[in-house]
Amino acid sequence: MVSVLFVCLGNICRSPTAHGIFEHKVAQQPGAIATQITVDSAGTGDWHVGRQADARAQAAAQHRGYDLSALRARQVTPEDFSRFDYILAMDLKNFAHLKAMAPASFRGELAMFLDYLPDSGLQREVPDPYFGGEEGFNHVLDLVETAAEGLLHHILQHHFSG
Ligand code: 4NP
Repeated sequence: MVSVLFVCLGNICRSPTAHGIFEHKVAQQPGAIATQITVDSAGTGDWHVGRQADARAQAAAQHRGYDLSALRARQVTPEDFSRFDYILAMDLKNFAHLKAMAPASFRGELAMFLDYLPDSGLQREVPDPYFGGEEGFNHVLDLVETAAEGLLHHILQHHFSG
């Protein structure tokens, strides 16, 4: 099994978008692979725990064929570091928060999600769309769709080849 946790601040915009899109891509893989990759998301903050993804994030995702309606926000816990192989931060603040939480025993990969953009360039962060307009949510989708492809490619190469 390979397990992936996407983390942002509120777990209502960026990380549920990554969760839904990556899960969708995993489900399209042959069954033997699809059943061996588990996906989750969480927020470093607790303000939105229990809530659905932001209505704007859901609408933008729905427009591209992704259904985020089943997801509910939760906060990152110390146990996540013993449950997940990949813990992927949306921005540098999330990354610093996770780094400070990670126990010395953590054997997984803590990284920036956009490190998996095939052509990562200078774009390291998925910008927080919460206080902006609709275009911010579409920009999140553009970045997440591409990075999710890169991440899937990486996982297939490292865990399922040969
Ligand atoms: P997210 O977006 O981290 O992508 O889920 C945010 C959601 C809520 C808040 C900030 C960012 N907030 O300040 O409540």
